[in-house]
Amino acid sequence: MSIVREFCFTDMFKFNRLAWDPFIEDYNLSFFVTKMLQFPMLSQAVLAPNEQLMGYLLGESDKAAAGDHQLYGHVSVLAVDSEYRRLGVGSKLLERFHQLMEQQQKWYVSLYVRMNNRSAMRLYESLGYVKYSWLPNFYPDDHGYSLRLPLATDVAGKTLQGQQFIIKFYFIIMHVMLLIRAVLKFVLRH
Ligand SMILES: CC(C)(COP(=O)(O)OP(=O)(O)OC[C@H]1O[C@@H](n2cnc3c(N)ncnc32)[C@H](O)[C@@H]1OP(=O)(O)O)[C@@H](O)C(=O)NCCC(=O)NCCS
Repeated sequence: MSIVREFCFTDMFKFNRLAWDPFIEDYNLSFFVTKMLQFPMLSQAVLAPNEQLMGYLLGESDKAAAGDHQLYGHVSVLAVDSEYRRLGVGSKLLERFHQLMEQQQKWYVSLYVRMNNRSAMRLYESLGYVKYSWLPNFYPDDHGYSLRLPLATDVAGKTLQGQQFIIKFYFIIMHVMLLIRAVLKFVLRH
């Protein structure tokens, strides 16, 4: 059994174990405080009966940049304690956030993920997220993807327009570069 409730200030003293996961970015306390004050209803925590923090999600909402006027929700941080993984905690947090965004008639939910974070990628894809764009060197030590999940307001799937081109373009360039590298290696060897 677990309890889901709004993430509160005292929760920041409960996630020491989570802070050391290589897939969790280093954020300082002011980052958390700012998110909580700006978007008080959008951050959720899941607690075990002994009050231990099982996982949390920090969410926000915004308006897309000029020309792309849809309102959207964004998952800033999602983390589940290693002791409680594969129990549905991450899915529960995301589904709750999606419900909130649906109620507020947002167009889509976005998030960023490291290219090598396969477990997170599987989780997101199992909930319907799709790769929207490729983000080279987005993290100090890794590339990333921007993912999007269109919501009910986006009947025509407008929030995914432009997605395929960016992803395909990157993969074409990457494959051309790999081919050139292979040819150069072959030529230099002979
Ligand atoms: C990614 C993370 C949030 C997943 O949380 P979770 O509570 O374990 O996820 P769930 O139990 O809801 O998993 C739902 C589905 O996602 C997929 N999934 C999740 N973790 C997986 C893993 N390690 N390997 C393969 N599939 C995985 C599975 O399809 C799973 O369904 P199943 O258990 O029925 O097979 C958690 O592993 C975590 O906190 N990782 C470190 C921080 C991180 O990567 N955050 C995301 C940054 S973008």
